[in-house]
Amino acid sequence: MTRRPVPVLTIDGPSGSGKGTISRRVAEALGWHLLDSGALYRAVGFAAGMEGLDLSDTEAVTRCAQTTRIGFRDPKDGGETRVLVNGLDATDELRTETCGAAASAIAAIPAVRAALLDKQRSFRKAPGLVADGRDMGTVVFPDAEIKVFLTASAEERARRRYKQLKEKGLNVTLATLLREIQARDVRDAARTVAPLRPAADAVLIDSTGMPIEQVVAKVLELARKYRQ
Ligand code: C5P
Repeated sequence: MTRRPVPVLTIDGPSGSGKGTISRRVAEALGWHLLDSGALYRAVGFAAGMEGLDLSDTEAVTRCAQTTRIGFRDPKDGGETRVLVNGLDATDELRTETCGAAASAIAAIPAVRAALLDKQRSFRKAPGLVADGRDMGTVVFPDAEIKVFLTASAEERARRRYKQLKEKGLNVTLATLLREIQARDVRDAARTVAPLRPAADAVLIDSTGMPIEQVVAKVLELARKYRQ
């Protein structure tokens, strides 16, 4: 008898598409594990910063990606997952723009992506995995059972980001955010290593104007036959 592989549901897409929230809710609903691959890139960016590395020094950054210990811990009271970098709780730091920018820089180094491959694949455990990222369906889990590519118009993503930053009291304009998002889209799609693009067998979902619950329901519908 051949054993069925542990099912994987990949959710890829640009930032602001709602991937993080949707992935978390879908994983909770299915009772599956969750891989936030962006957190791994952020953790390496953070560790490189702590070591004072020059992010353009690809050898040093690659060594950092190979040796950094990254752990996830779910608090017993059900609060948000904590991310431990070399034993240190770095959850709050990882969310900052500085870590996001560092993650984006080191993510363009092919050897760094290679160093994180096994780590990402080790999350594939029964009863199933929801993997959130940019290249989950194309590179990390090309054999995934269900692949979703989640998008939203650049205008909608800029509005979501604007709301988040305003709530944090930051002084930004919608026009600037929109320009940044459009520039990042072009860069992400054009980069030579793991460019942001949907897998050929991915289901495209455009979340523009869609409430979160509706997107979650749509993704769960795709996963229905793999639920126990
Ligand atoms: O998703 P998040 O914003 O946390 O990701 C941080 C950065 O890590 C992204 O801007 C992207 O450059 C990189 N990343 C990646 N591949 C992934 C996940 C994240 O290149 N699978």
